[in-house]
Amino acid sequence: MNDLDDYLLMIPGPTGVSTRVRKVMSEPQIGHSSEEFQESFIELLNLTKEVFKTKTGYPFILTGSGTVAMEAAVTSLIEQGDRSLVLDTGHFARRFGMILESHGLDVDYLNFPFGNHADPKMLREQLSHDEYKAVFITHVDTSSTVMNSISELVGEVKGANALSIVDSVCGVGGCRVEFDKLQADVVISCSQKALAAPPGAAILMISQEGMRHLENRKTPIPSYYMNLKRWKELMDDPRKYLATPAVQVMLALLESFKMIISEGMEERWSRHRRMAEAIRAGIEALGLEFIAEDGYRADTVTGFYVSTGKAASIRYTMKHEYNVEVARGFGDLRDDSLRVGHFGNINRKEVSAFLSGLEFTLAEFGSKVKEGVAVDAAVPFITPELRQSRSAR
Ligand SMILES: Cc1ncc(COP(=O)(O)O)c(C=O)c1O
Repeated sequence: MNDLDDYLLMIPGPTGVSTRVRKVMSEPQIGHSSEEFQESFIELLNLTKEVFKTKTGYPFILTGSGTVAMEAAVTSLIEQGDRSLVLDTGHFARRFGMILESHGLDVDYLNFPFGNHADPKMLREQLSHDEYKAVFITHVDTSSTVMNSISELVGEVKGANALSIVDSVCGVGGCRVEFDKLQADVVISCSQKALAAPPGAAILMISQEGMRHLENRKTPIPSYYMNLKRWKELMDDPRKYLATPAVQVMLALLESFKMIISEGMEERWSRHRRMAEAIRAGIEALGLEFIAEDGYRADTVTGFYVSTGKAASIRYTMKHEYNVEVARGFGDLRDDSLRVGHFGNINRKEVSAFLSGLEFTLAEFGSKVKEGVAVDAAVPFITPELRQSRSAR
């Protein structure tokens, strides 16, 4: 592998981490019960609320990956006898289903073809004849690269008086999520995607209504670690101990949150949108097809088809010759498609390196497209000023 500073990690998580955040991780070890760490953790909880755009939400940050947050939501809010509905838009939606099933909980699935969004009308229809305690929604399903309209879906769930539990692991920090406006009961995320920190912190934001359900549940939570009632004591008072947190990861996440807040959420969402549009324009110019349907392509990850059976070799060439690492497609599409993550610190440099690397690689694999088309198509999105000055010439 070449010099890591030139190397672009563009898989759908974890993402590249800035020097500033990496530096924090290489500081001397501090104790998890030190005053310094406790102060930092309180600041981290406060900044989490800013990033999620909430004044009323209750934040939880646990050591663990995103799946820990998913399972903690299930074990803490759903009880035996409760019925849940999963909107199946891909692998990560089904993961919610698998977690529910592995706890012996009752779950129905509303299925959508792979690459299609969850249709709010179909959800309304389902909710009109079946009653659920909770509906599980995936904001951006990293497997299908679909971005669902969470505001419409949560609106339907609210109308049916159920809890809405949203996995925005691949959304928060890159796609618009305004917790108070959204009115979801739980939004889940984690550190290693659009929040641009290393893996290891699982995040949940819970509404007042969600907290009431947590406090008033009838049966004990069947988990020691993934038990939000226990964790609440620690979130209320970070001087308490439950389990040793990944101190460096939490400090790195705090540093990243400071950078996110100084960029500004609107600017950050808009940068992600522009970079996603640039990537989509470049991919389209190369004559490739997307996995996700038009209008529902994510601003954080893009999936596209390549020549049948060639995904592994194209990925390998991009990584070893052009220093850009992308991921293969998911499941059945593994051999025929690729996924590129474009979140966190994504900017012009990464977009143009990805598009030119892809274009050169495809040329090696026999593509006949005109040289430079991919980056050229991306120019209006990544450098609008450049496009204007070009057309004025
Ligand atoms: C949408 C989504 N949900 C959940 C997860 C699980 O997160 P983790 O791998 O951190 O457990 C992922 C991971 O890629 C994801 O993309």
